[in-house]
Amino acid sequence: MLNSEMNKPIIVVEELTKIYKMETFELKALQNVTFKIYPGEFVSVMGPSGSGKSTLMNLLGCLDTPTSGRYFLDQQDVSMLKDNTLATFRNKKIGFVFQSFNLLPRLDAFQNVELPLIYAGVSRVERNEMVKKFLAKVGLEDRMHHRPNQLSGGQTQRVAIARALVNDPSIILADEPTGNLDTRSGEEIMHIFQTLNDEGKTIILVTHEHDISLHTKRILLFRDGQLVGDEKVENPVRAEDTLKDDENQKENHESEKSQLSAKN
Ligand SMILES: Nc1ncnc2c1ncn2[C@@H]1O[C@H](COP(=O)(O)OP(=O)(O)OP(=O)(O)O)[C@@H](O)[C@H]1O
Ligand SMILES: [Mg+2]
Repeated sequence: MLNSEMNKPIIVVEELTKIYKMETFELKALQNVTFKIYPGEFVSVMGPSGSGKSTLMNLLGCLDTPTSGRYFLDQQDVSMLKDNTLATFRNKKIGFVFQSFNLLPRLDAFQNVELPLIYAGVSRVERNEMVKKFLAKVGLEDRMHHRPNQLSGGQTQRVAIARALVNDPSIILADEPTGNLDTRSGEEIMHIFQTLNDEGKTIILVTHEHDISLHTKRILLFRDGQLVGDEKVENPVRAEDTLKDDENQKENHESEKSQLSAKN
């Protein structure tokens, strides 16, 4: 990436507002939200339930349109784009990972990851190569032909990440990607995200868990649809280290056990 490109924000939102009109009242899901995100940032979005986090992600992912305010994605004012152009633009720029995985249950891991490439018109030979590459990247080369119900929660989430990556987007949006997972699987997912971020991907991730947010580089805090905090994380936790410590502890435990049984 050129230095001049690094200096330009990849996301700019200005006074972004989303109001849901209900029968008897208006619900302000997001109110006058303004911020910038630069290429290579790793941002977590936090806040209580109902504070507007998913609403924001849907707007950033161009899955929904704001009631007012502006959104520039890679210098482009997306409110000016027509549906077709918007869809193409979105598919090129953004990979989405949802909390509920959103994989197709009848397709196996390979086919789920392949789908966006079929839509993009990539040839079969190339698809085959890319799907394998990205499944290997998330450590699932030996689970290619498992369907979602034949995978653990963490593995399913990794397939969803591989699917989000396969079109080589510059931004990854993830709404509670570790929400349904045990601590270790969550740590493994954060390890994948940190590796992707090291490689230059911009990542924005919603989480309820403070521990998870400490793996990112910046925390945006929402309350009642408003941005109420924007903080840099000084020394982000490296998932790699936590996973290694876990392994070491397990090994120590095992060797203590075998020493004990040798004594008896
Ligand atoms: N389609 C909709 N129609 C009406 N109201 C909505 C709609 N989607 C969300 N809301 C409301 O907007 C507010 C923000 O919702 P949002 O889903 O963004 O919250 P959230 O911060 O993601 O919460 P959670 O942590 O529970 O996922 C909530 O009060 C919600 O009830
Ligand atoms: Mg939500």
